[in-house]
Amino acid sequence: MIRLSVGGIPIPPSKLIYPEELMITLYNIISTDGFIARKDGSEDFIPDNLWKNFLSICKEYGTLIIGRRTYDIIQSYDKELQDSFVALPIRKIVVSGNKNLNLKNGYTIVNTPEDAIALAPDALVSSGPILNNYLIKNHLVKEIIFHEIPVLIGDGIKPFDKTKLILKVIDNVPQLEGIKVIKYNLD
Ligand SMILES: NC(=O)c1ccc[n+]([C@@H]2O[C@H](COP(=O)([O-])OP(=O)(O)OC[C@H]3O[C@@H](n4cnc5c(N)ncnc54)[C@H](OP(=O)(O)O)[C@@H]3O)[C@@H](O)[C@H]2O)c1
Repeated sequence: MIRLSVGGIPIPPSKLIYPEELMITLYNIISTDGFIARKDGSEDFIPDNLWKNFLSICKEYGTLIIGRRTYDIIQSYDKELQDSFVALPIRKIVVSGNKNLNLKNGYTIVNTPEDAIALAPDALVSSGPILNNYLIKNHLVKEIIFHEIPVLIGDGIKPFDKTKLILKVIDNVPQLEGIKVIKYNLD
């Protein structure tokens, strides 16, 4: 491990980033017009039957990192969806700046995205623009996966800010029934 320092002060291991090991993947379900939620944060346009795809991709990666607001939204889901997520044998990490936050059992809390990545450099992240933008701006993302559903909602929350972002479409990605799977590499 290379020891790094700034002005002679060692950087704690949790702050060290190793680009060659970084494999963070962002994942979102989006409408055809590119929104992950309505303006008020609701996701009523996303059919419940897509939940199984979400669980399956979480399982594939083994660790899911989410922002605290996404954690709150998950708590409002139907019991059946929540139970299947709780039962999923993966590591679930929540990022929050709040050092006094109490989470349900089964979640690990960290106070910075870097701490989350130190725990799982190849994790899947499913969140909104706050966490997504931070990770993209800090060059911590390798790949982005969208499951696009054939619905137009007109207005809403975008997954991240596309300014200055160079996305390379990955060709010939396996598709799933009823949704378009889109994958991008980040330059
Ligand atoms: N369609 C989809 O696939 C999908 C998936 C996930 C979420 N969503 C939608 O996305 C929306 C939520 O996204 P959002 O952008 O508002 O919130 P978010 O990214 O889920 O969570 C933001 C919170 O995470 C913590 N956080 C993020 N970056 C941090 C940093 N650098 N340092 C410390 N803490 C940090 C902060 O928690 P504290 O405030 O506690 O400090 C922050 O308020 C919801 O509407 C949800 O429905 C959609």
